[in-house]
Amino acid sequence: MTPPFEIASPLPGAAFGATVQLAKPIAQQLPDGLPEALAQAGGLLLIPRLGEIADSPELLLRLSHLFGPEVEDYRHTLTGRQFVHPTVPEIYIVSNVPPAHRAPPKQPDPPLTADGRLPVQYPQRKGWHTDQSYRRPPPDISLFYAVMPVARERGQTLFASGTLAYEALPADLKARVERLEGLHVQPGAGRSRDAVLAGETPRPLAAHERAQRQPVVRTHPVTGKRALYLCESGQMDWVDGPFVGLEPGPRGAGAVLLDALMTHFTRPEFVYVHEWTEGDVLVWDNRCLVHAATWYDADKEQRLMWRTTVRGNPGALYAGEKRSWLPERERAAD
Ligand SMILES: [Fe+2]
Repeated sequence: MTPPFEIASPLPGAAFGATVQLAKPIAQQLPDGLPEALAQAGGLLLIPRLGEIADSPELLLRLSHLFGPEVEDYRHTLTGRQFVHPTVPEIYIVSNVPPAHRAPPKQPDPPLTADGRLPVQYPQRKGWHTDQSYRRPPPDISLFYAVMPVARERGQTLFASGTLAYEALPADLKARVERLEGLHVQPGAGRSRDAVLAGETPRPLAAHERAQRQPVVRTHPVTGKRALYLCESGQMDWVDGPFVGLEPGPRGAGAVLLDALMTHFTRPEFVYVHEWTEGDVLVWDNRCLVHAATWYDADKEQRLMWRTTVRGNPGALYAGEKRSWLPERERAAD
């Protein structure tokens, strides 16, 4: 029997990840073995040539279900309707095209590194995060599908391996982060580093919006490997954090440590840069990777991407927890 896919690892130019070539269209056969391949590849799979999804978006949902018991339905999670796919509500739309109208991130300043390359390392590159880390339990895996990517050399997605970064962490930093917790909060709450530096008043947060503690070193529930788990400017709480028990604020001891950790985390040898081709699916594991989007010219180019979020295996640390992001009434029924 023909195997359901062929696999090549690592991804070009990276120390982790794998490319998967499926033997058959997914409408004909949903392949076995992809979750195991994802774990073995350090949390990142590229599955190219899935143009069939553009006309049959439910195929992305079927593919997503291979990776976990629950795929988020964005109708139930306080998501603006303009970001939710009209026929498959488990698809979140990332696009500058109406009605989503989401702008790309700004270019780094300066836009290239001193040797003329795309900047990947923090702090020149900003926007590194792991999806929805402001929720407990946080999600496991995201799938991202290129319906209409922009031309190469912009609109990329960058990934950094928390596993490789943790393993290479100097002993003194390893000791400092051993039992440390980060304080993660959703963007737009007036608690980002920039908002606090600008003197904005943080908006009052309902119980289900409040910052959540997450371990800085997370043990992966499938591989047992330890990985750095943290975000930077936009998804940490810079009023009370970024770390529990360290001096808070954008200039405190916590900020100094976060800058050191993120600079290490995003060193080029831990990073993969994905240049998108129409029909690509990327599957990434939020439990052990961070990612960042890059700039494109939203006045001249249109980009349309679909994302799904898979949850259900966050690890023993979260066993039995109610979902932090649901308003009280819904949480009681959770
Ligand atoms: Fe993301």
